[in-house]
Amino acid sequence: MRRMLVFVAVLALTFGACGGSDDSGGGADDGGGDSSSVSAGDAARGEEVFTKTCVSCHGEGGQGIEGLGKPMPGSAFITGLSDDELVEFIKVGRGTGDPDNTTGVDMPAKGGNPSLSEQDLVDVVVYIRTLG
Ligand code: HEC
Repeated sequence: MRRMLVFVAVLALTFGACGGSDDSGGGADDGGGDSSSVSAGDAARGEEVFTKTCVSCHGEGGQGIEGLGKPMPGSAFITGLSDDELVEFIKVGRGTGDPDNTTGVDMPAKGGNPSLSEQDLVDVVVYIRTLG
């Protein structure tokens, strides 16, 4: 009887270990070496995201539209942030209630498009970096 218990315990440990490695195995597949499942940004995809969601306020090439979005090329705010920080900024936006808001116009979270994925944001940041 005691032997049987040990056997069961070993089995449980074995299966437990298998379950654990299955999980991390899946993560490694998606991540391609990175711990997250987001791959390096792609400027062409980012331009599509920009054209769909951001261009209505920020204008062609991020030149800005008076009374809507701010111009992006040459923005000290943008150059002062890392790519990760910029992704985080876009997730939150900068509403008119934010003391840092400079225009009195809302920068909505994710440009008002909640369906944008982490990957979309990483891509759009790479695109924004190409604007100068
Ligand atoms: C509804 C209009 C609108 C949309 C859509 C929009 N923005 Fe904005 N965005 C703004 C406004 C307005 C500001 C400036 C807020 C302020 O007064 O500080 C801004 C500011 C920014 C800034 C900071 C610029 C700076 O120099 O301070 C970034 C970066 C930015 N937007 C990125 C994006 C991205 C990326 C998208 C698309 C995913 C997007 N925005 C969509 C209106 C918009």
